Amino acid sequence: MNTTVEAVFTIDETLKAMRAKLTGIIPDSEIQAKAEVAHKINLLKREMNAVILGHNYMEPALFHSVPDYVGDSLQLSVVSSQTDADIILFCGVWFMGETAKVLSPDRTVLVPSRQAGCSLAAGITGADVRALKERFPGLPVVTYVNTYADVKAESDYCCTSGNAKKVVEYLFEKGHQHILFLPDEYLARNTAAELGVAYIEGRHQDSAVLPKQEKAIVGWDVRCEVHELFKPEDVQKIRTAYPDAVILAHPECSPEVIKQVDVAGSTKVMVDYVEQVDAPRYALLTECSMGENIAAQYPHREMVRSCSLSCKHMRLITLEDTLHALEHMQHAVELDETLIARAKTAIDRMVAIR
Ligand code: 13P
Ligand code: SF4
Repeated sequence: MNTTVEAVFTIDETLKAMRAKLTGIIPDSEIQAKAEVAHKINLLKREMNAVILGHNYMEPALFHSVPDYVGDSLQLSVVSSQTDADIILFCGVWFMGETAKVLSPDRTVLVPSRQAGCSLAAGITGADVRALKERFPGLPVVTYVNTYADVKAESDYCCTSGNAKKVVEYLFEKGHQHILFLPDEYLARNTAAELGVAYIEGRHQDSAVLPKQEKAIVGWDVRCEVHELFKPEDVQKIRTAYPDAVILAHPECSPEVIKQVDVAGSTKVMVDYVEQVDAPRYALLTECSMGENIAAQYPHREMVRSCSLSCKHMRLITLEDTLHALEHMQHAVELDETLIARAKTAIDRMVAIR
């Protein structure tokens, strides 16, 4: 279920709503300054019939003021496939805007920064996938949504961390014994471990290495530059300092980290867990802003506030740039029609398997 952020349209209402969420999270002087920008955005978006989507990693002042919908990659993809707004303003990174464009090619899709990349998306190209398909002929290709459209165009299925296991299970059930799963090495390894199947490194090998009798996931070797920095020692430190904390981590963390935490899942899984499961406290191993956003949303929950890892790409999306994006219709995602058609099948399948 997508969270719809309540719409507020006067400057006083905006400031009041932001103070209610953000007091104690960011200084009041900053809330006041940000409220002015948020107010302008909320007026403009109504005038322009724009819908604003905010990924869970957006900075707290943005997350708690202008999006009509907030959520993880899968939730926001679903919203972008169903909206009747003229403009989709995607407060997230570039590949997310591309996914929205493929799902809604007739809408104008804007992303506030053209520079908002992702180490996973940058780590593989369509040509890499074509070469892999030659070395592993006949294997279905599943690609993580954190990729650009040229990669999705070479894929049979897309997935997010929210449905990776379901997509892979579905393909095994359909009778495939081996599956290419690209490009996040850790998500691939964690999915293989969850399903009890082998993991094989694919960049430097070919189909000769596939086990004859065993199911296997064949992966690529790139990682999220943020989540790969979490180490098992970080989990141990939290356990020692807060023995009663439930520790949650994103499956882009290494298998060694995932083995030690209590819950692994997409950003939505983490938000839902904090909302729904009573625990003395919660510690998140993921991008820092999300912990702040949850602390603001659920003030009765005790969050361990020790996070220090931030995604430099997500940080490029500010309220100021969001306003600029609407005022100047920037940065519009433009994709070739043929590419859209080729990428759409895999993305539609992702949206269908939830
Ligand atoms: P989610 O799909 O879990 O929101 O994650 C996106 C992402 O980029 C995580 O680093
Ligand atoms: Fe990409 Fe990692 Fe940033 Fe997510 S947190 S957008 S996977 S670099």
